[in-house]
Amino acid sequence: MVYRAAPKDGVAWVTGASSGIGKAVALELARRGYTVAVTARRHEELETLAHKAESLAGRIVAHEGDVTDEAAMAGIVRAIEQAHGPIALAFLNAGIAPYTRAGDLDVSAFAKAHAVNVMGVVNGLAPLFAVMGARGRGQVGVTASVAGYGGLPRAAAYGASKAAVIHLCEALKYDCDLLGINLQVVNPGFVKTPLTAKNDFPMPTAIEEDEAARRICDGFETAGFEITFPRRLAWTLKLVNLLPYRLYFPLIARATGWNRRSAAAAPAAAKQA
Ligand SMILES: NC(=O)c1ccc[n+]([C@@H]2O[C@H](COP(=O)([O-])OP(=O)(O)OC[C@H]3O[C@@H](n4cnc5c(N)ncnc54)[C@H](OP(=O)(O)O)[C@@H]3O)[C@@H](O)[C@H]2O)c1
Repeated sequence: MVYRAAPKDGVAWVTGASSGIGKAVALELARRGYTVAVTARRHEELETLAHKAESLAGRIVAHEGDVTDEAAMAGIVRAIEQAHGPIALAFLNAGIAPYTRAGDLDVSAFAKAHAVNVMGVVNGLAPLFAVMGARGRGQVGVTASVAGYGGLPRAAAYGASKAAVIHLCEALKYDCDLLGINLQVVNPGFVKTPLTAKNDFPMPTAIEEDEAARRICDGFETAGFEITFPRRLAWTLKLVNLLPYRLYFPLIARATGWNRRSAAAAPAAAKQA
């Protein structure tokens, strides 16, 4: 039997909860009766969120921290369990999405995306697996992205970090099954959040944060390894990724409008001009 967490089993922990998907999921879990510990760097945003949850069935408590800090993440897991009881459900969701272009490759964007999106997840998984493994049960959702399925324009740093997250979750699932931990990967398509507000291209399938949160929390109530939405976008991308590269690249270029761009618009070329 795959374990599915419930509020009677303990508390929930959400990282990246000061805005966007994490904030909406924290509120949805509180609505569903959980005490939710929330983590991000912006303390005031977390306190505001805690106030917002006051009328809900559960409650929200702030545990500020930076996911790139290994010791801090282990400390937060300890502090949550001491103050509120066992963590039954965790949602490791903090992330950043820097754009990258080949003509002016920003090395630091790769380092930052890796530090937050990959190591930030690993820094949460390690202390969680220790306590959940000892109890023989627990549930962990990890946010990756449909951008991790295959290479997309400007997404070299972001997409590679999300591909790594999908891969590490797949690889850890075998042991998690033995430990009684239900490990799930959450692959959203476009969700309207501060992160996607900077996108300068149309996002026709984009959904609201609250809708994304409902789908994620519904996914936590299932045993499925992947929680992904909107389904049409996710499955189209999965199928496109099965195509040979000679078809994959022109299709993605056309779908993203990249076929209408010219090298002259690339940053390095612009600098030389
Ligand atoms: N929106 C989408 O369409 C979409 C699609 C696919 C996947 N995703 C993924 O979903 C997750 C949430 O994205 P979002 O759209 O909700 O973005 P968002 O609104 O920008 O939220 C990102 C969250 O991550 C936190 N964060 C960033 N760096 C952190 C750090 N070093 N330590 C702790 N927290 C940190 C931010 O909090 P602080 O700044 O306060 O630390 C914030 O709460 C990300 O992993 C993203 O890649 C989003």
